[in-house]
Amino acid sequence: MIRNFNYKEKAMERISIYAWVFTLLVFSCGPRERIPKEAFEEVNKNMEIKRISEVEILESAMEWGDSLTTKAQKNLIENLQQAIADGGFGEAIKFCKTNATELENELSGNEEILIRRVSTKHRNPSNAPTEEEAMILEAYAYNSEQGLESDPNIQKIEGGEVFLYTKAIIFPGGLCNNCHGKPEVDISKSTLEVISSNYPEDMATGFRKGDLRGMWSVRIPKKEVVKRL
Ligand code: HEC
Repeated sequence: MIRNFNYKEKAMERISIYAWVFTLLVFSCGPRERIPKEAFEEVNKNMEIKRISEVEILESAMEWGDSLTTKAQKNLIENLQQAIADGGFGEAIKFCKTNATELENELSGNEEILIRRVSTKHRNPSNAPTEEEAMILEAYAYNSEQGLESDPNIQKIEGGEVFLYTKAIIFPGGLCNNCHGKPEVDISKSTLEVISSNYPEDMATGFRKGDLRGMWSVRIPKKEVVKRL
């Protein structure tokens, strides 16, 4: 992938060198006429394109994904804690069912960006990974089994027009055990009842501290990144 960007950058560089050479030729060899305005504009346009390189776009998408998921996670946990304080775990489950998706997304302030949490062992079937996401999850799962840390990842999808930012969610135990830990040990019977009546196909129990719980997945169209630069 990296080689690909370098190649593109070089191509851009070459285009602007050609443009300059063209301008110089017009200056030095031609009759003493004024340079057409368009020639200057063309050169400047090429310089502008070069200034925002593919690498910068990619780095900016990565930073954006990082900051969105960090904020979304914080927002989700704060709301979860509040819901537990207000009505206990059962009520908090219903709260998550209604609000989780919205809470994940409300921070981006951009409708073109889709923020999700996905997991192969999901509670809500709509959090099942896509084919692309499943491959990345598999790599994260491998790392977690080997005791290795997973860095956030960014990939180009849909013919390079969209970035897929992902970040592993490692199960921290603690509070999360009450709804995702071991049934009847960490999760009370009454909580289990609320889970099964709201999510009859729940797979999201039995997690232990350090397990891969899932990942954040953010779909960022490239044009939105360029707009921001
Ligand atoms: C009050 C119970 C409760 C607690 C506590 C809780 N969760 Fe959940 N979790 C849920 C419910 C309910 C869903 C499904 C939300 C939905 O419908 O989108 C869910 C979904 C998820 C998902 C999305 C994938 C899936 O399984 O559908 C992840 C990831 C997740 N939880 C991680 C955590 C982590 C990490 C913690 C601790 C910070 C935590 N949860 C604490 C109830 C809980």
